[in-house]
Amino acid sequence: MRLDRYLSETTGMSRKEATKVLQREIVTVDGVAQKKTAFQVPLGAEVIWNDIRLELMGPTYLMMHKPLDCVCANHDPIHQTIFAYLDVPYIDKLHTVGRLDLDTSGLLLITNDGKWSHRITSPKRQCPKIYHAWLADPLTEADVRAFAEGLQLHGETTLTAPAVLEIINEREALVHIYEGRYHQVRRMLAATGNKVEKLHREQVGTLKLDPDLAPGESRRLTAEEIALF
Ligand code: URA
Repeated sequence: MRLDRYLSETTGMSRKEATKVLQREIVTVDGVAQKKTAFQVPLGAEVIWNDIRLELMGPTYLMMHKPLDCVCANHDPIHQTIFAYLDVPYIDKLHTVGRLDLDTSGLLLITNDGKWSHRITSPKRQCPKIYHAWLADPLTEADVRAFAEGLQLHGETTLTAPAVLEIINEREALVHIYEGRYHQVRRMLAATGNKVEKLHREQVGTLKLDPDLAPGESRRLTAEEIALF
């Protein structure tokens, strides 16, 4: 890979900025200072700028216990983003696999592998997402049937795909959905006349949130977990 691209990929600076850095500052490749933008960085080379070793991010797959009050975005002018909880040097190569609302907690997947995340979010694949919902009003068997038949959400033209409402007790349920419409769980329960007071995602596909992760903590997925999707 060209040295200017290497700088840009590892730091987020533009290729133009990389050219300036190479002209004005010291960048070494395997101990030798290099100034040429087109210099080919050998595989596995040690590239140092400002005493920092710049490392290319390989394929990355993380699970986070998303806390409340942060948004699933790389940058946000108002709210803290989930990336504030991640100790990675450069966030713009990573993206969240789908989104959880500001006031939803639970299992969030983060990656730089677009094909992998597409397999999870594509409606064609029908990958289940399971949420624990706490409700303002009592749940009924009619709600269970309505979820199974598909609900008409406010402002939408098509019914939701059949979903599962598993009642835990009068005001708590597990909701299994197979698509990812905007605020889907809250809107489905609103369509039954109820209101979600708290929402937490427990599972995506067969992958469950690691109970050892406290809100805000994350870890790399194992090879087996990556291969689930
Ligand atoms: N459905 C919602 O309503 N909110 C979420 O964060 C995820 C699914």
